[in-house]
Amino acid sequence: MTSPKPRVVLGVSAGIAAYKVCELLRRLTESGHDVTVVPTEDALRFVGEPTWAALSGKPVSTGVWDGVADVPHVRLGQQADLVFVAPATADLLARAAGGLADDLLTNTLLTARCPVVFAPAMHTEMWEHPATRANAATLRSRGAVVVEPASGRLTGKDTGPGRLPEPAELFEVARHVLARGADGRDLAGRHVVVSAGGTREALDPVRFLGNRSSGLQGYALARTAVARGARVTLVSANVALPDPAGAEIVPVESAEDMREAVLKAAGAADAVVMAAAVADFRPAGYQGSKIKKSEGSEPEPIRLAKNPDILAELGERRRPGQVIVGFAAETDDVLENGRAKLARKRCDLLVVNQVGEGLTFGRPDNAAVILGADGSQTEVPRGAKEALAEVVWDQVAARLVPPPAG
Ligand SMILES: Cc1cc2nc3c(=O)[nH]c(=O)nc-3n(C[C@H](O)[C@H](O)[C@H](O)COP(=O)(O)O)c2cc1C
Repeated sequence: MTSPKPRVVLGVSAGIAAYKVCELLRRLTESGHDVTVVPTEDALRFVGEPTWAALSGKPVSTGVWDGVADVPHVRLGQQADLVFVAPATADLLARAAGGLADDLLTNTLLTARCPVVFAPAMHTEMWEHPATRANAATLRSRGAVVVEPASGRLTGKDTGPGRLPEPAELFEVARHVLARGADGRDLAGRHVVVSAGGTREALDPVRFLGNRSSGLQGYALARTAVARGARVTLVSANVALPDPAGAEIVPVESAEDMREAVLKAAGAADAVVMAAAVADFRPAGYQGSKIKKSEGSEPEPIRLAKNPDILAELGERRRPGQVIVGFAAETDDVLENGRAKLARKRCDLLVVNQVGEGLTFGRPDNAAVILGADGSQTEVPRGAKEALAEVVWDQVAARLVPPPAG
């Protein structure tokens, strides 16, 4: 017997980014989801009913008066495994937060007991308006995932936060939220900071000392935290991967840049996960112009200087209740070195993985042992980096102090 297809209601409100959601719909249907598109009446001005009907293979309604015998205004929400609204306009967020039920989409939102995701998209001024912020906060407090919009080019010439994240990344959010089910948002209301990638330490304007970190593990951590409801700041060093939907990206280059960005973001964060490969050393002297090859003489040796130890600094500055997670890439005596590092850096958890030829770097999979300051030791067998990310968040969530009641 084949298992039934997960049922997704794809709500579309009247933002210019509605056209991008056709691609999200395709990804959902092609990966075996049963998708019913519920646009708002105004959304059909941007993308018409025939497009949604043809791509979903289902009839499309905006109001509660079509097919009344099937009571779609309650049935759709009750039967859904996921309701995903993209783009979510300022107006739709307000109507949803206010509990209005003046069209099929808002009726569906009130009857849904499954996970609900809103992907807002609008001009920066609308997104930053206190009314919209309050509506997003209300929806989050009720357990919905409200994906932070991306920053970048908006309609016309403006740029700023308010862009709809790319469809492939929205699809990842949908996939993760569906996989975790109704009780999966255990990081809701939490702010987490994740570092990813590998720092570059400049020798001259064109050359640097770097490392092989791809950023895949840090990006998997960011993606999974968004799907678990967290607000995510992703400090990203030299990563050539698409931005995960919903994470605020802070691009950095060197260890010094990373230190500044991580310490700033960590100030009020509930958890900090340092998955980036931060260089221990940098060239002692930076040459302002390109180092020349001089005929007949040997090149100068590169002298190195120590970089700041960000993890140790986080351990020293931690605020009460903050959970700090380090990563250790070891080639030999993996566990012994990991335990020593955990004690030295005073972090709560250390994810130790063995690196070397063909292991970990740039690969989609990883295997690790998670060491806890409380003496715990959790083996995570080789699997997708996202699976390891989920176990890391399980361990972080278990160590977070419950938020004050009320
Ligand atoms: C060209 C154009 C683009 C718009 N883009 C957006 C947008 O990206 N986000 C938004 O919140 N509202 C946007 N609006 C305003 C909404 O369409 C308007 O608030 C509408 O009433 C929302 O209806 P709905 O929430 O029922 O879908 C846009 C309006 C126009 C005319």
